[in-house]
Amino acid sequence: MIARTDIPAMTDIADILEAHAGRPGALLPILHAVQARLGYVPPGCVAGIAHALNLSRAEVHGVVSFYPDFRDEPPGRHVVKVCRAEACQAVQGRRTEQHAKARLGVDYHGTTADGAFTLEPVYCLGNCAAGPSVMLDEALHGRVTPERLDELLGGLLGEGRNAM
Ligand code: FES
Repeated sequence: MIARTDIPAMTDIADILEAHAGRPGALLPILHAVQARLGYVPPGCVAGIAHALNLSRAEVHGVVSFYPDFRDEPPGRHVVKVCRAEACQAVQGRRTEQHAKARLGVDYHGTTADGAFTLEPVYCLGNCAAGPSVMLDEALHGRVTPERLDELLGGLLGEGRNAM
């Protein structure tokens, strides 16, 4: 992934466009591939993606802003996704959600000032029987109480370090 301070250029995604352009329904796979590589879909790349697919910038921007999975800003070093769907809400998921916001000091789609964490909502992680569910980067966790969330976040920061 490109560092937070780097500004991605079209050359960073040229191979992605080349691999998908000309295929039907290429926009979503391209946006997913760009986000997987860069961590977000840089607004500066929207025009190039639109050009490659013969779409308008507004069409590409509309898709990026419509789907909550796409980000238009670089995420923090760690992404915390809290499940807001019904089964998790039924087992005190709201407590975990409120604690995550308070602990990190950000609302959904926000990134902590030190760039360590981005907090995002998600609507089911396929772990409904073991809610409340939280995804920390690529790792799924179940039965995440506020106390367990603190442990998990502390683990990502490293022992004895508290950047929050
Ligand atoms: S409802 Fe939360 S994991 Fe399915």
